[in-house]
Formats: sequence, C-alpha cells, structure tokens
Amino acid sequence: MKLLACLLALAAAAYARLVNSTIDDASPVVNYSQTPSLRCTPGTCNEEWTTRLYNGTSSTTAAPVSIPFVGSGVYVYLGVEGTVNFNIDGEFRGSFSNNNVNEIVLAFYNVSLADGSHVLLIYPPPLRAEIIELDYIVYTHSVPGSRTGAIVGGVVGGLVFLALLTRGAFVLMRRRRQRRLSLRGVRLADDWTDKAALRLDTGALPQKPKLVL
Ligand SMILES: *[C@@H]1O[C@H](CO)[C@@H](O)[C@H](O)[C@H]1NC(C)=O
Ligand SMILES: *[C@@H]1O[C@H](CO)[C@@H](O)[C@H](O)[C@H]1NC(C)=O
Repeated sequence: MKLLACLLALAAAAYARLVNSTIDDASPVVNYSQTPSLRCTPGTCNEEWTTRLYNGTSSTTAAPVSIPFVGSGVYVYLGVEGTVNFNIDGEFRGSFSNNNVNEIVLAFYNVSLADGSHVLLIYPPPLRAEIIELDYIVYTHSVPGSRTGAIVGGVVGGLVFLALLTRGAFVLMRRRRQRRLSLRGVRLADDWTDKAALRLDTGALPQKPKLVL
C-alpha cells in the first residue's frame, strides 16, 4: 500500500504544473506604440521610488502598449492617472481607474484564458490621453513535470514487478521439491507448513510411485 502511494505520487510529479513568469516594462517583448515619455531606472528616477519598482524600472506613456505571452493567466501591475483599458486577443476585458500615476497596483488580471498564445493590449480610452506608468506583468503558464519523476516511477515499478516474479518462482520451486520429497517417503521436517496439502499429496500417491522410484 505504501509502495502504491509512492508510485502514485511519482506519477503525479510527472504531470505538468503551473508557474508564473514576469515581464518587466523594460523587456524587449513589450511593444510601445509610442516611445515612453519617461523611463524610470535607478539612474534617472530617485532611488526611493525605483527600489519599489520591479527590477527598478517603469515606463510612462499615454499610448497603447501590447505584450504577447503564452499562458492561461495574466496580471498587470501599473499606475494610472485617469482610466486604462485592457484587451486580450482583440476583445475588451476590463478597465481600471485611479488618480495617482505613482501608485503601482494590480490593475487587471484574467486567469481564465485558454492555455496558449495571447496578446495583451493596455490602452487609454479612445481620444483620451490618460497617463499610464507600466511596471510589470505576470503571466501563468504550464511547464512539463519533471522527467526524472517519470523515470524513477518506471524503474521502481519494474523492480517491484521483478521482485514479485522472483518470489513467485521461488515458492513454486520449493513446493515442487517438497512434493517430490514426500512422494519418496522422506520424513518431512518440522517446518513443513502446508499440512493440508500434505494430505492431498498422499492421496495422489497410488498414481505416481513408479515414475519417481
Ligand atoms: C501567480 O501570481 C499570482 C499573483 O501574483 C498569484 O495569485 C498566483 O497564485 C500565482 N500562480 C502560481 C502558479 O504561482
Ligand atoms: C533587470 O535589469 C537589468 C539591467 O539593469 C537587466 O540586465 C536585467 O535583464 C533585468 N531583469 C529583468 C528580469 O528584467
């Protein structure tokens, strides 16, 4: 039973699991439709502020920003003065309003996407130039479980099977030997455990003696 639970746990470890990855505002995968009006880095903005930003950077813009990612969930961390809209794969998914661009918060998330490629679009309402300070996004995606788990599971399973097979063969051989001994009339040792079978064996005696003697 313990062994079975162990094998099941190993099999489960072989399956895919979900992990988070972070895309910084300064990452090359982030497409700014206009060059950000301000890029905060530890060298350009005051340190008290940059130490609170993911990897010390943020990008301020009033124009749409698109970010491709592969996964099933996404979280957006930014500050906004006004309103910001969120669109995934061409579909409006929500908006967020605040009046402090320097307050970086979780402004949007969606964790019910099909696992696959998506494009997130962060944009101000049409014809309005709201200010957005993007810090980072987090996306959730699945990674294959450890291959080692699957291999260990296979090896352990194989060894258990082999052990059972060997034990079965050993028991069978001992039975045969003991039967042969009883037919020859050799006194059985005290450790003969199968007394009921002994009676059955002697019942078979009349047919066999000639063959064996
Ligand atoms: C990913 O991050 C979000 C928020 O940052 C968290 O709620 C979620 O549990 C995380 N998911 C995984 C698989 O770590
Ligand atoms: C953090 O910033 C450094 C440069 O300051 C850059 O080399 C590194 O790739 C950044 N890390 C992430 C996770 O964006």
